[in-house]
Amino acid sequence: MHRVFGLAAMALLFSLATAAQSADVVTSLPRLERGDGRHALLVDDAPFLILGAQANNAVNYPTMLDTVWPVLDEIHANTLEIPVAWQQIEPVEGKFDFSYLDTLLKQAREHDKRVILLWFGTWKNTGYGYTPDWVKLDSKRFPRMKTKEGKDHDVLSPHGAQTMAADRTAFVKLMEYLRDHDAQNSVIMVQVENETGSYRVPRDYGAEGNRLFAKPIPEPLSRATGKRGTWARAFGDQADRAFNSWYMAAYVEEVARAGKAIKALPMYVNASLAGPSNVPDPTGVASGGPQQDVLDIWKAAAPSVDFQAPDIYDAKSANVVQYLDKYARPDNALMVPEIGNSLPFARYFYEAIGRGAIGFAPFGMDRSGYFNYPLGAKALDDEVIGAFALPYAMVGSMMRDWAHLSYAHPTWGRAKPDDGSAVSAIMGNWKITGEWDQWQFGMKEWKAFAAEPPPAAAEPVGGFALIHLAADEFLLIGDHVRVTFEPAPGSPPNAIMLRVEEGRFEQGTWQMKRIWNGDQTDYGLNLTDRLQVLKITMGHYR
Ligand code: DGJ
Repeated sequence: MHRVFGLAAMALLFSLATAAQSADVVTSLPRLERGDGRHALLVDDAPFLILGAQANNAVNYPTMLDTVWPVLDEIHANTLEIPVAWQQIEPVEGKFDFSYLDTLLKQAREHDKRVILLWFGTWKNTGYGYTPDWVKLDSKRFPRMKTKEGKDHDVLSPHGAQTMAADRTAFVKLMEYLRDHDAQNSVIMVQVENETGSYRVPRDYGAEGNRLFAKPIPEPLSRATGKRGTWARAFGDQADRAFNSWYMAAYVEEVARAGKAIKALPMYVNASLAGPSNVPDPTGVASGGPQQDVLDIWKAAAPSVDFQAPDIYDAKSANVVQYLDKYARPDNALMVPEIGNSLPFARYFYEAIGRGAIGFAPFGMDRSGYFNYPLGAKALDDEVIGAFALPYAMVGSMMRDWAHLSYAHPTWGRAKPDDGSAVSAIMGNWKITGEWDQWQFGMKEWKAFAAEPPPAAAEPVGGFALIHLAADEFLLIGDHVRVTFEPAPGSPPNAIMLRVEEGRFEQGTWQMKRIWNGDQTDYGLNLTDRLQVLKITMGHYR
Protein backbone atom coordinates (compact mmCIF):
# COMPACT_ATOMS: atom_id res chain seq x y z
CA MET A 1 0.00 0.00 0.00
CA HIS A 2 1.07 3.52 -0.72
CA ARG A 3 1.96 5.40 2.43
CA VAL A 4 2.66 9.09 2.76
CA PHE A 5 5.22 9.74 5.45
CA GLY A 6 4.69 12.63 7.83
CA LEU A 7 7.55 14.68 9.21
CA ALA A 8 7.56 12.92 12.59
CA ALA A 9 7.78 9.61 10.81
CA MET A 10 10.62 11.01 8.73
CA ALA A 11 12.60 11.88 11.84
CA LEU A 12 12.18 8.31 13.08
CA LEU A 13 13.23 6.99 9.70
CA PHE A 14 16.36 9.09 9.89
CA SER A 15 17.37 7.55 13.17
CA LEU A 16 16.78 4.09 11.69
CA ALA A 17 18.67 4.96 8.54
CA THR A 18 21.70 6.20 10.43
CA ALA A 19 21.65 3.20 12.77
CA ALA A 20 21.76 0.81 9.85
CA GLN A 21 24.82 -1.04 8.57
CA SER A 22 26.20 -1.51 12.06
CA ALA A 23 26.82 -5.17 12.88
CA ASP A 24 24.55 -5.43 15.90
CA VAL A 25 21.52 -3.88 14.22
CA VAL A 26 19.06 -6.23 12.61
CA THR A 27 16.89 -4.26 10.20
CA SER A 28 13.84 -5.14 8.13
CA LEU A 29 14.57 -6.59 4.74
CA PRO A 30 14.76 -4.12 1.87
CA ARG A 31 11.56 -4.35 -0.14
CA LEU A 32 9.64 -2.77 -2.96
CA GLU A 33 6.38 -0.98 -2.43
CA ARG A 34 3.91 0.26 -4.99
CA GLY A 35 1.02 2.71 -4.79
CA ASP A 36 -0.83 5.06 -7.15
CA GLY A 37 1.30 3.75 -10.01
CA ARG A 38 4.51 4.79 -8.25
CA HIS A 39 7.22 2.63 -6.73
CA ALA A 40 9.58 2.86 -3.79
CA LEU A 41 12.52 0.79 -2.65
CA LEU A 42 12.41 0.65 1.13
CA VAL A 43 15.73 0.20 2.89
CA ASP A 44 15.65 0.14 6.69
CA ASP A 45 11.90 0.72 6.34
CA ALA A 46 12.21 4.04 4.52
CA PRO A 47 12.22 4.96 0.83
CA PHE A 48 15.73 4.91 -0.58
CA LEU A 49 17.03 6.24 -3.89
CA ILE A 50 19.89 4.24 -5.36
CA LEU A 51 22.54 6.78 -6.36
CA GLY A 52 24.47 3.94 -7.86
CA ALA A 53 27.69 3.17 -9.67
CA GLN A 54 28.58 -0.13 -11.32
CA ALA A 55 32.11 -1.46 -11.26
CA ASN A 56 33.80 -2.89 -14.32
CA ASN A 57 33.34 -6.60 -14.94
CA ALA A 58 36.52 -8.05 -13.46
CA VAL A 59 36.66 -5.88 -10.37
CA ASN A 60 34.96 -8.57 -8.26
CA TYR A 61 38.13 -9.51 -6.38
CA PRO A 62 39.37 -8.30 -2.98
CA THR A 63 42.55 -6.84 -4.48
CA MET A 64 40.53 -4.68 -6.87
CA LEU A 65 38.05 -3.17 -4.46
CA ASP A 66 40.25 -0.23 -3.55
CA THR A 67 39.81 1.00 -7.14
CA VAL A 68 36.09 1.43 -6.54
CA TRP A 69 35.48 3.32 -3.32
CA PRO A 70 37.23 6.61 -4.22
CA VAL A 71 35.15 6.95 -7.40
CA LEU A 72 31.93 6.27 -5.52
CA ASP A 73 32.88 8.98 -3.04
CA GLU A 74 33.81 11.41 -5.79
CA ILE A 75 30.41 11.11 -7.46
CA HIS A 76 28.50 10.93 -4.14
CA ALA A 77 27.13 7.46 -4.91
CA ASN A 78 25.50 5.58 -2.07
CA THR A 79 25.37 2.13 -3.69
CA LEU A 80 27.91 -0.08 -5.44
CA GLU A 81 26.72 -2.54 -8.06
CA ILE A 82 29.33 -5.26 -8.41
CA PRO A 83 29.42 -8.83 -9.75
CA VAL A 84 29.70 -12.00 -7.75
CA ALA A 85 30.58 -14.78 -10.16
CA TRP A 86 29.53 -18.41 -9.97
CA GLN A 87 33.11 -19.37 -10.99
CA GLN A 88 34.57 -17.59 -7.95
CA ILE A 89 32.21 -18.91 -5.28
CA GLU A 90 32.09 -22.53 -6.52
CA PRO A 91 35.36 -23.23 -8.33
CA VAL A 92 35.02 -26.89 -7.40
CA GLU A 93 31.55 -28.37 -7.46
CA GLY A 94 30.02 -28.38 -3.99
CA LYS A 95 32.90 -26.40 -2.42
CA PHE A 96 32.02 -22.79 -1.75
CA ASP A 97 34.32 -19.87 -1.12
CA PHE A 98 32.85 -16.58 0.09
CA SER A 99 36.10 -14.84 1.01
CA TYR A 100 35.48 -12.17 -1.66
CA LEU A 101 32.11 -11.38 -0.13
CA ASP A 102 33.66 -11.21 3.36
CA THR A 103 35.96 -8.46 2.11
CA LEU A 104 33.34 -6.74 -0.01
CA LEU A 105 30.77 -6.44 2.79
CA LYS A 106 33.36 -5.33 5.34
CA GLN A 107 34.66 -2.62 3.02
CA ALA A 108 31.19 -1.52 1.95
CA ARG A 109 30.28 -0.94 5.59
CA GLU A 110 33.54 0.88 6.27
CA HIS A 111 32.83 3.13 3.30
CA ASP A 112 29.16 3.51 4.21
CA LYS A 113 27.92 2.16 0.88
CA ARG A 114 25.11 -0.23 0.11
CA VAL A 115 25.66 -3.04 -2.38
CA ILE A 116 23.72 -4.57 -5.24
CA LEU A 117 25.16 -7.95 -6.11
CA LEU A 118 25.11 -8.98 -9.74
CA TRP A 119 24.84 -12.75 -10.01
CA PHE A 120 27.01 -13.66 -12.98
CA GLY A 121 25.87 -17.25 -13.41
CA THR A 122 24.57 -19.21 -16.40
CA TRP A 123 24.28 -16.07 -18.52
CA LYS A 124 26.56 -13.03 -18.64
CA ASN A 125 25.93 -10.88 -21.73
CA THR A 126 24.36 -14.20 -22.85
CA GLY A 127 27.66 -16.13 -22.61
CA TYR A 128 28.85 -18.70 -20.07
CA GLY A 129 32.14 -16.96 -19.26
CA TYR A 130 31.44 -16.64 -15.52
CA THR A 131 30.43 -20.26 -14.96
CA PRO A 132 32.94 -22.54 -13.21
CA ASP A 133 35.32 -24.59 -15.34
CA TRP A 134 33.46 -27.78 -14.41
CA VAL A 135 30.38 -26.33 -16.07
CA LYS A 136 32.17 -25.02 -19.13
CA LEU A 137 33.88 -28.35 -19.75
CA ASP A 138 30.84 -30.61 -19.53
CA SER A 139 28.44 -29.94 -22.38
CA LYS A 140 26.68 -33.28 -21.86
CA ARG A 141 25.48 -32.32 -18.40
CA PHE A 142 25.29 -28.59 -19.15
CA PRO A 143 24.13 -28.43 -22.78
CA ARG A 144 24.75 -25.51 -25.06
CA MET A 145 22.04 -24.16 -27.31
CA LYS A 146 22.02 -25.66 -30.80
CA THR A 147 21.87 -23.77 -34.05
CA LYS A 148 19.34 -24.72 -36.73
CA GLU A 149 22.13 -26.76 -38.29
CA GLY A 150 22.58 -28.70 -35.04
CA LYS A 151 25.90 -27.07 -34.10
CA ASP A 152 26.79 -25.94 -30.57
CA HIS A 153 26.13 -22.26 -29.87
CA ASP A 154 28.16 -20.45 -27.22
CA VAL A 155 25.17 -19.93 -24.90
CA LEU A 156 23.97 -22.43 -22.31
CA SER A 157 20.53 -23.81 -23.06
CA PRO A 158 17.63 -22.74 -20.86
CA HIS A 159 16.35 -26.30 -21.26
CA GLY A 160 19.32 -27.76 -19.41
CA ALA A 161 17.64 -29.04 -16.24
CA GLN A 162 20.97 -29.86 -14.62
CA THR A 163 22.41 -26.46 -15.49
CA MET A 164 19.48 -24.78 -13.81
CA ALA A 165 19.73 -27.03 -10.77
CA ALA A 166 23.47 -26.32 -10.41
CA ASP A 167 23.05 -22.56 -10.86
CA ARG A 168 20.19 -22.61 -8.35
CA THR A 169 22.28 -24.51 -5.82
CA ALA A 170 25.08 -21.95 -6.05
CA PHE A 171 22.66 -19.03 -5.88
CA VAL A 172 20.98 -20.52 -2.81
CA LYS A 173 24.41 -20.80 -1.13
CA LEU A 174 25.00 -17.14 -1.95
CA MET A 175 21.69 -16.16 -0.38
CA GLU A 176 22.46 -18.35 2.65
CA TYR A 177 25.71 -16.47 3.01
CA LEU A 178 23.81 -13.16 2.96
CA ARG A 179 21.24 -14.47 5.41
CA ASP A 180 23.99 -15.50 7.82
CA HIS A 181 26.47 -12.64 7.36
CA ASP A 182 24.44 -9.59 6.43
CA ALA A 183 21.82 -9.01 9.11
CA GLN A 184 22.27 -5.28 8.57
CA ASN A 185 21.38 -5.64 4.87
CA SER A 186 24.37 -3.98 3.36
CA VAL A 187 23.27 -5.86 0.24
CA ILE A 188 19.95 -4.28 -0.66
CA MET A 189 19.15 -6.04 -3.91
CA VAL A 190 20.36 -8.83 -6.20
CA GLN A 191 20.44 -8.93 -9.97
CA VAL A 192 19.82 -12.49 -11.17
CA GLU A 193 22.09 -13.33 -14.13
CA ASN A 194 23.31 -10.59 -16.45
CA GLU A 195 21.81 -9.69 -19.82
CA THR A 196 20.19 -13.05 -20.54
CA GLY A 197 19.45 -14.03 -24.10
CA SER A 198 21.24 -15.35 -27.13
CA TYR A 199 22.72 -13.45 -30.04
CA ARG A 200 22.45 -14.81 -33.59
CA VAL A 201 20.54 -17.96 -32.61
CA PRO A 202 17.05 -16.94 -31.45
CA ARG A 203 16.29 -20.18 -29.59
CA ASP A 204 17.68 -23.62 -28.87
CA TYR A 205 17.01 -25.80 -31.93
CA GLY A 206 18.13 -28.95 -30.10
CA ALA A 207 15.79 -31.90 -29.49
CA GLU A 208 14.33 -30.60 -26.22
CA GLY A 209 13.90 -27.10 -27.61
CA ASN A 210 12.11 -28.41 -30.69
CA ARG A 211 9.87 -30.67 -28.61
CA LEU A 212 8.75 -27.78 -26.40
CA PHE A 213 8.41 -25.42 -29.35
CA ALA A 214 5.88 -27.76 -31.00
CA LYS A 215 3.59 -27.61 -27.97
CA PRO A 216 0.94 -24.95 -27.28
CA ILE A 217 2.17 -21.94 -25.34
CA PRO A 218 1.91 -22.39 -21.54
CA GLU A 219 -1.42 -21.55 -19.90
CA PRO A 220 -0.06 -18.69 -17.71
CA LEU A 221 1.27 -17.04 -20.87
CA SER A 222 -2.12 -17.40 -22.54
CA ARG A 223 -3.75 -15.78 -19.54
CA ALA A 224 -1.24 -12.91 -19.53
CA THR A 225 -1.29 -12.20 -23.26
CA GLY A 226 -4.64 -13.51 -24.49
CA LYS A 227 -2.75 -15.54 -27.11
CA ARG A 228 -3.31 -19.26 -27.73
CA GLY A 229 -2.04 -22.14 -29.81
CA THR A 230 1.49 -22.97 -30.83
CA TRP A 231 4.33 -20.52 -30.45
CA ALA A 232 4.35 -19.96 -34.18
CA ARG A 233 0.63 -19.25 -34.24
CA ALA A 234 0.68 -17.01 -31.17
CA PHE A 235 3.81 -14.99 -31.93
CA GLY A 236 4.39 -15.23 -35.70
CA ASP A 237 7.79 -13.80 -36.74
CA GLN A 238 8.78 -13.36 -33.10
CA ALA A 239 7.87 -16.93 -32.09
CA ASP A 240 11.44 -18.14 -31.56
CA ARG A 241 12.18 -15.09 -29.48
CA ALA A 242 8.99 -15.32 -27.44
CA PHE A 243 9.75 -18.98 -26.79
CA ASN A 244 13.30 -18.28 -25.66
CA SER A 245 12.08 -15.40 -23.48
CA TRP A 246 9.61 -17.67 -21.73
CA TYR A 247 12.14 -20.43 -21.06
CA MET A 248 14.95 -18.13 -20.00
CA ALA A 249 12.56 -16.27 -17.71
CA ALA A 250 11.20 -19.56 -16.32
CA TYR A 251 14.79 -20.68 -15.60
CA VAL A 252 15.60 -17.38 -13.89
CA GLU A 253 12.37 -17.74 -11.92
CA GLU A 254 13.55 -21.05 -10.46
CA VAL A 255 16.85 -19.51 -9.41
CA ALA A 256 15.30 -16.32 -7.99
CA ARG A 257 12.50 -18.11 -6.18
CA ALA A 258 14.89 -20.51 -4.48
CA GLY A 259 17.12 -17.59 -3.46
CA LYS A 260 14.23 -15.56 -2.12
CA ALA A 261 13.10 -18.51 -0.02
CA ILE A 262 16.41 -18.13 1.83
CA LYS A 263 16.56 -14.34 2.00
CA ALA A 264 13.78 -12.37 0.34
CA LEU A 265 15.75 -9.46 -1.06
CA PRO A 266 14.36 -7.59 -4.06
CA MET A 267 15.59 -9.21 -7.27
CA TYR A 268 15.66 -7.91 -10.82
CA VAL A 269 16.97 -8.69 -14.29
CA ASN A 270 18.71 -6.40 -16.78
CA ALA A 271 18.23 -6.19 -20.52
CA SER A 272 20.57 -5.79 -23.43
CA LEU A 273 18.35 -3.42 -25.40
CA ALA A 274 17.51 -3.66 -29.06
CA GLY A 275 16.45 -0.30 -30.44
CA PRO A 276 13.78 1.77 -28.78
CA SER A 277 10.80 1.39 -31.05
CA ASN A 278 11.27 -1.24 -33.73
CA VAL A 279 10.33 -4.87 -33.31
CA PRO A 280 13.76 -6.43 -32.92
CA ASP A 281 15.40 -8.68 -35.47
CA PRO A 282 15.38 -12.03 -33.61
CA THR A 283 18.89 -12.84 -34.83
CA GLY A 284 20.32 -9.43 -33.92
CA VAL A 285 18.91 -8.95 -30.43
CA ALA A 286 19.85 -10.91 -27.31
CA SER A 287 16.81 -13.12 -27.97
CA GLY A 288 15.24 -14.24 -24.69
CA GLY A 289 16.38 -11.23 -22.68
CA PRO A 290 13.89 -8.87 -21.01
CA GLN A 291 13.63 -6.26 -23.78
CA GLN A 292 10.72 -3.85 -23.59
CA ASP A 293 8.49 -5.72 -26.06
CA VAL A 294 8.65 -9.02 -24.13
CA LEU A 295 8.12 -7.67 -20.61
CA ASP A 296 4.72 -9.35 -20.38
CA ILE A 297 6.29 -12.71 -21.17
CA TRP A 298 8.97 -12.20 -18.52
CA LYS A 299 6.42 -11.10 -15.95
CA ALA A 300 4.21 -14.13 -16.55
CA ALA A 301 7.13 -16.58 -16.42
CA ALA A 302 9.12 -15.00 -13.57
CA PRO A 303 6.85 -13.64 -10.84
CA SER A 304 9.69 -13.81 -8.28
CA VAL A 305 11.62 -11.26 -10.30
CA ASP A 306 10.51 -7.86 -9.00
CA PHE A 307 11.27 -5.86 -12.12
CA GLN A 308 13.03 -5.79 -15.46
CA ALA A 309 15.53 -3.03 -16.14
CA PRO A 310 17.17 -1.40 -19.17
CA ASP A 311 20.95 -1.18 -19.71
CA ILE A 312 21.29 2.07 -21.65
CA TYR A 313 24.27 2.64 -23.93
CA ASP A 314 22.49 4.59 -26.66
CA ALA A 315 23.08 8.27 -25.88
CA LYS A 316 20.46 9.70 -28.28
CA SER A 317 18.04 11.66 -26.14
CA ALA A 318 14.88 10.59 -28.02
CA ASN A 319 15.85 6.94 -27.65
CA VAL A 320 16.66 7.21 -23.95
CA VAL A 321 13.27 8.81 -23.37
CA GLN A 322 11.55 5.93 -25.16
CA TYR A 323 13.40 3.29 -23.18
CA LEU A 324 12.62 4.95 -19.87
CA ASP A 325 8.97 5.33 -20.80
CA LYS A 326 8.72 1.65 -21.67
CA TYR A 327 10.25 0.35 -18.44
CA ALA A 328 8.46 2.83 -16.14
CA ARG A 329 5.16 1.01 -15.75
CA PRO A 330 2.67 0.72 -12.91
CA ASP A 331 3.72 -2.95 -12.73
CA ASN A 332 7.44 -2.31 -13.20
CA ALA A 333 9.62 -0.15 -10.97
CA LEU A 334 12.02 1.87 -13.09
CA MET A 335 15.68 1.36 -12.36
CA VAL A 336 18.62 2.00 -14.67
CA PRO A 337 21.20 -0.54 -13.50
CA GLU A 338 23.65 0.43 -16.24
CA ILE A 339 24.08 3.56 -18.31
CA GLY A 340 27.15 4.76 -20.17
CA ASN A 341 29.59 6.72 -18.01
CA SER A 342 30.49 9.41 -20.53
CA LEU A 343 29.33 13.01 -20.27
CA PRO A 344 26.12 12.86 -22.36
CA PHE A 345 24.60 10.15 -20.15
CA ALA A 346 24.82 12.01 -16.84
CA ARG A 347 21.89 14.30 -17.62
CA TYR A 348 19.54 11.34 -18.00
CA PHE A 349 19.57 10.94 -14.24
CA TYR A 350 16.95 13.70 -14.22
CA GLU A 351 14.82 11.87 -16.80
CA ALA A 352 14.95 8.75 -14.65
CA ILE A 353 14.06 10.30 -11.30
CA GLY A 354 11.47 12.46 -13.04
CA ARG A 355 9.74 9.17 -13.83
CA GLY A 356 10.05 8.08 -10.22
CA ALA A 357 13.04 5.77 -10.74
CA ILE A 358 14.25 3.88 -7.69
CA GLY A 359 17.83 3.90 -8.93
CA PHE A 360 20.41 4.85 -11.53
CA ALA A 361 23.98 3.68 -12.07
CA PRO A 362 26.64 4.62 -14.61
CA PHE A 363 28.76 1.61 -15.62
CA GLY A 364 32.52 1.27 -15.22
CA MET A 365 33.00 3.55 -12.23
CA ASP A 366 36.35 2.50 -10.84
CA ARG A 367 40.05 3.22 -11.29
CA SER A 368 40.96 -0.27 -12.53
CA GLY A 369 42.17 1.34 -15.76
CA TYR A 370 39.52 -0.26 -17.98
CA PHE A 371 37.19 1.80 -20.19
CA ASN A 372 34.39 0.46 -22.36
CA TYR A 373 34.67 3.36 -24.81
CA PRO A 374 32.89 3.88 -27.23
CA LEU A 375 29.94 2.73 -25.09
CA GLY A 376 31.12 4.89 -22.24
CA ALA A 377 33.88 7.36 -21.39
CA LYS A 378 37.49 7.23 -22.63
CA ALA A 379 38.61 8.33 -19.18
CA LEU A 380 37.08 9.26 -15.85
CA ASP A 381 38.35 12.82 -15.99
CA ASP A 382 37.14 15.73 -13.88
CA GLU A 383 34.47 16.72 -16.40
CA VAL A 384 32.88 13.27 -16.41
CA ILE A 385 33.12 12.80 -12.66
CA GLY A 386 31.67 16.28 -12.12
CA ALA A 387 28.71 15.63 -14.42
CA PHE A 388 27.60 12.60 -12.40
CA ALA A 389 28.62 14.10 -9.06
CA LEU A 390 26.52 17.26 -9.27
CA PRO A 391 23.02 15.73 -9.45
CA TYR A 392 24.00 12.94 -7.06
CA ALA A 393 25.22 15.53 -4.55
CA MET A 394 22.04 17.55 -4.94
CA VAL A 395 19.80 14.57 -4.24
CA GLY A 396 22.31 12.99 -1.88
CA SER A 397 22.01 15.87 0.54
CA MET A 398 18.35 14.89 0.99
CA MET A 399 18.22 11.39 -0.46
CA ARG A 400 15.68 10.02 2.02
CA ASP A 401 13.48 13.12 1.61
CA TRP A 402 13.60 12.95 -2.17
CA ALA A 403 12.82 9.23 -2.14
CA HIS A 404 9.82 9.52 0.15
CA LEU A 405 8.46 12.73 -1.41
CA SER A 406 8.77 11.41 -4.95
CA TYR A 407 6.93 8.26 -3.88
CA ALA A 408 4.13 10.32 -2.39
CA HIS A 409 3.77 13.01 -5.07
CA PRO A 410 3.90 13.40 -8.86
CA THR A 411 7.33 13.99 -10.37
CA TRP A 412 8.63 15.20 -13.68
CA GLY A 413 12.15 15.50 -15.03
CA ARG A 414 13.84 16.20 -18.33
CA ALA A 415 17.32 16.27 -19.77
CA LYS A 416 18.38 18.62 -22.54
CA PRO A 417 17.25 17.04 -25.81
CA ASP A 418 19.96 16.56 -28.44
CA ASP A 419 18.48 19.42 -30.50
CA GLY A 420 18.39 21.77 -27.51
CA SER A 421 14.65 22.40 -27.85
CA ALA A 422 12.68 23.61 -24.84
CA VAL A 423 10.61 21.11 -22.87
CA SER A 424 7.42 21.73 -20.93
CA ALA A 425 4.71 19.98 -18.97
CA ILE A 426 1.52 20.87 -17.14
CA MET A 427 1.47 20.03 -13.45
CA GLY A 428 -1.88 21.02 -11.94
CA ASN A 429 -2.47 24.74 -12.52
CA TRP A 430 1.05 25.35 -13.75
CA LYS A 431 2.91 25.03 -16.99
CA ILE A 432 6.59 24.44 -16.36
CA THR A 433 9.19 24.94 -19.06
CA GLY A 434 12.86 24.05 -19.20
CA GLU A 435 15.11 25.97 -21.57
CA TRP A 436 18.77 25.44 -22.24
CA ASP A 437 21.74 27.56 -23.15
CA GLN A 438 20.63 30.72 -21.38
CA TRP A 439 22.82 32.85 -19.17
CA GLN A 440 21.45 33.58 -15.71
CA PHE A 441 20.36 37.08 -16.73
CA GLY A 442 18.36 38.27 -19.71
CA MET A 443 17.13 36.55 -22.82
CA LYS A 444 19.20 35.11 -25.62
CA GLU A 445 16.91 36.86 -28.13
CA TRP A 446 17.95 40.30 -26.87
CA LYS A 447 19.52 42.29 -29.67
CA ALA A 448 20.76 45.28 -27.68
CA PHE A 449 22.92 43.14 -25.42
CA ALA A 450 24.03 40.44 -27.80
CA ALA A 451 25.79 37.77 -25.77
CA GLU A 452 27.95 34.85 -26.71
CA PRO A 453 26.39 31.46 -25.88
CA PRO A 454 27.11 30.13 -22.40
CA PRO A 455 29.91 27.55 -22.17
CA ALA A 456 27.55 24.59 -21.78
CA ALA A 457 25.62 25.48 -24.95
CA ALA A 458 27.76 23.23 -27.09
CA GLU A 459 27.70 20.38 -24.59
CA PRO A 460 25.13 17.61 -24.00
CA VAL A 461 24.57 18.74 -20.43
CA GLY A 462 21.61 20.07 -18.52
CA GLY A 463 18.54 18.71 -16.83
CA PHE A 464 16.13 19.15 -13.98
CA ALA A 465 13.61 17.24 -11.89
CA LEU A 466 10.62 18.43 -9.88
CA ILE A 467 8.37 17.05 -7.22
CA HIS A 468 4.84 18.50 -7.12
CA LEU A 469 4.60 18.78 -3.33
CA ALA A 470 1.20 20.49 -3.16
CA ALA A 471 -1.13 22.30 -5.57
CA ASP A 472 1.10 25.38 -5.67
CA GLU A 473 4.35 23.99 -4.32
CA PHE A 474 7.30 22.37 -6.06
CA LEU A 475 10.73 21.07 -5.15
CA LEU A 476 13.26 21.63 -7.93
CA ILE A 477 16.80 20.47 -8.62
CA GLY A 478 18.77 20.75 -11.81
CA ASP A 479 21.83 22.05 -13.58
CA HIS A 480 22.46 24.08 -16.72
CA VAL A 481 18.81 24.91 -17.22
CA ARG A 482 16.38 27.82 -17.00
CA VAL A 483 13.06 26.77 -15.48
CA THR A 484 9.99 29.00 -15.77
CA PHE A 485 6.51 28.68 -14.33
CA GLU A 486 3.39 30.13 -15.93
CA PRO A 487 -0.34 29.55 -15.48
CA ALA A 488 -1.62 26.50 -17.33
CA PRO A 489 -4.39 27.16 -19.86
CA GLY A 490 -7.72 27.43 -18.05
CA SER A 491 -6.21 27.90 -14.60
CA PRO A 492 -7.39 30.65 -12.19
CA PRO A 493 -6.43 34.28 -12.97
CA ASN A 494 -3.91 36.48 -11.13
CA ALA A 495 -1.18 33.88 -10.95
CA ILE A 496 2.13 34.83 -9.34
CA MET A 497 5.38 33.22 -8.34
CA LEU A 498 5.00 33.92 -4.64
CA ARG A 499 8.21 32.68 -3.17
CA VAL A 500 11.37 30.85 -4.23
CA GLU A 501 13.42 29.47 -1.38
CA GLU A 502 16.87 27.99 -1.73
CA GLY A 503 17.54 25.55 1.06
CA ARG A 504 17.99 21.97 2.07
CA PHE A 505 16.34 19.22 4.06
CA GLU A 506 17.79 18.46 7.44
CA GLN A 507 16.49 15.41 9.28
CA GLY A 508 13.32 15.55 7.21
CA THR A 509 12.66 19.26 7.69
CA TRP A 510 13.07 21.96 5.06
CA GLN A 511 15.61 24.57 6.11
CA MET A 512 15.56 27.79 4.09
CA LYS A 513 18.92 29.35 3.35
CA ARG A 514 17.71 32.39 1.40
CA ILE A 515 14.91 33.67 -0.79
CA TRP A 516 15.66 34.08 -4.47
CA ASN A 517 14.37 37.34 -5.84
CA GLY A 518 15.22 40.16 -8.26
CA ASP A 519 17.81 39.10 -10.80
CA GLN A 520 17.57 35.55 -9.46
CA THR A 521 13.92 35.18 -10.54
CA ASP A 522 13.32 37.88 -13.18
CA TYR A 523 14.56 35.64 -15.99
CA GLY A 524 13.34 32.26 -14.79
CA LEU A 525 15.12 30.11 -12.27
CA ASN A 526 18.58 29.59 -13.65
CA LEU A 527 20.36 26.55 -12.30
CA THR A 528 24.03 26.38 -13.20
CA ASP A 529 26.83 24.15 -11.99
CA ARG A 530 26.03 24.86 -8.33
CA LEU A 531 24.48 22.54 -5.84
CA GLN A 532 21.12 24.25 -5.39
CA VAL A 533 17.78 22.95 -4.18
CA LEU A 534 14.74 25.21 -4.61
CA LYS A 535 11.28 25.14 -3.05
CA ILE A 536 8.90 27.17 -5.17
CA THR A 537 5.53 28.45 -4.01
CA MET A 538 3.16 29.77 -6.64
CA GLY A 539 -0.10 31.55 -5.85
CA HIS A 540 -3.08 33.61 -7.00
CA TYR A 541 -3.79 37.05 -5.60
CA ARG A 542 -7.30 38.29 -4.83
C1 DGJ B 1 26.48 -4.60 -20.48
C2 DGJ B 1 26.86 -5.66 -19.49
O1 DGJ B 1 25.77 -5.94 -18.65
C3 DGJ B 1 28.06 -5.24 -18.67
O2 DGJ B 1 28.42 -6.28 -17.78
C4 DGJ B 1 29.20 -4.87 -19.60
O3 DGJ B 1 29.61 -5.99 -20.33
C5 DGJ B 1 28.75 -3.76 -20.53
N1 DGJ B 1 27.61 -4.19 -21.30
C6 DGJ B 1 29.82 -3.34 -21.52
O4 DGJ B 1 30.90 -2.77 -20.89
